[in-house]
Amino acid sequence: MQTTRNDLQALAKEHGTPLVVIDHDEIRRNYAQFKKHLPKVQVYYALKANPAPEIIRTLYREGASFDVASLPEFMLVYDNIRHLPPKEQQDFIWDKIIYANPTKPKETLQALNQYKPLVTYDNLAELKKIKQFAPQAGVVLRLRVPNTGSVVELSSKFGCDPGEAVDLIVEAFDMGLVVEGLSFHVGSQCTNFENFVQALNLSAAIMHEGKVRGHEIKILDIGGGFPAAYDPHVKPLAALARKINPEINRLFAPDIQILAEPGRYIVATAATAVSRIIGKAWREGKTCYYIDDGVYHTFSGIIFDHCQYHLKAFKEGSPEICAVFGQTCDALDTISLAEELPDLEIEDLVYSENIGAYSNASATWFNGFPPAKVIHINQ
Ligand SMILES: Cc1ncc(COP(=O)(O)O)c(C=O)c1O
Repeated sequence: MQTTRNDLQALAKEHGTPLVVIDHDEIRRNYAQFKKHLPKVQVYYALKANPAPEIIRTLYREGASFDVASLPEFMLVYDNIRHLPPKEQQDFIWDKIIYANPTKPKETLQALNQYKPLVTYDNLAELKKIKQFAPQAGVVLRLRVPNTGSVVELSSKFGCDPGEAVDLIVEAFDMGLVVEGLSFHVGSQCTNFENFVQALNLSAAIMHEGKVRGHEIKILDIGGGFPAAYDPHVKPLAALARKINPEINRLFAPDIQILAEPGRYIVATAATAVSRIIGKAWREGKTCYYIDDGVYHTFSGIIFDHCQYHLKAFKEGSPEICAVFGQTCDALDTISLAEELPDLEIEDLVYSENIGAYSNASATWFNGFPPAKVIHINQ
């Protein structure tokens, strides 16, 4: 986190709390690091992690590509290219957007068809739907690959069995569609890098068999899963790169186009939440703090993303074990039952770092509390 504690306090004073501060210098740094370590890989930022238009704009200016999973997400990217002449818009969509949700309602396909995008599929029913409602789309087959040890598992919901893959490729071509690529996702916050190695090997074998059956595939989409540095134990991207770059060189032809869909890696470390203590009680032998944010709001990743965020105080003092709850009238709204904070008072501020991914993206209005205000700095 680069934003200083003084900056955070000043911003909270100016804008009030609950507040989320998103540092665009950090987004640019993460994007640059990704490109440095995986130089062969085209970066499609996954809007799912944080779809703030300001973030999309920053990454657009940096030259990033985008992974969208709904029509509204597609339109958020499209807003950046509206001003371009039609041919340039079309080239951008074809070269730099993938619609990576394997299941799409027919209305979405109908709306997307005019843009001729790349869309993913993982079963025959979806393929038939694409043929009927978005016949101009290029298709990418999503494989099911091991998600062992990843914090967020995706393989139970998405991806075809590797054994069916070549048949699904042939079926698509037989229908008159063009399979442009293969894709996979090793699970989010993946620290078991073997998942990537296995997925690359599976993909290479499927591409080889596809070629033998007459269909050459030119794109490999290695998905998301690149771990964010939530704590010093998370293995760095450089270690993952050391493992997968040689595999990519060994397994695939030099002209293969590799793309990735990092979400968390790009935005997690770019945001800090600042909250205010609005209540203080003593329960079961420890102090309980109630703050003006919570798991229905910026801390929603505790539920949806299996993420534990730590709170820090601006005030100095010896740390004591305490509980921290959110503001809603619901016991599920528990941020931590064992946090370490100094003795704090109502109106004191606390903050939580590395909260840019799957956080305010899934905040609700539960109990009438609006999501935290979001401030963008260093745009
Ligand atoms: C299809 C797809 N691509 C990319 C991502 C982004 O993954 P991550 O945030 O782990 O990089 C996700 C999120 O789970 C996803 O479902």
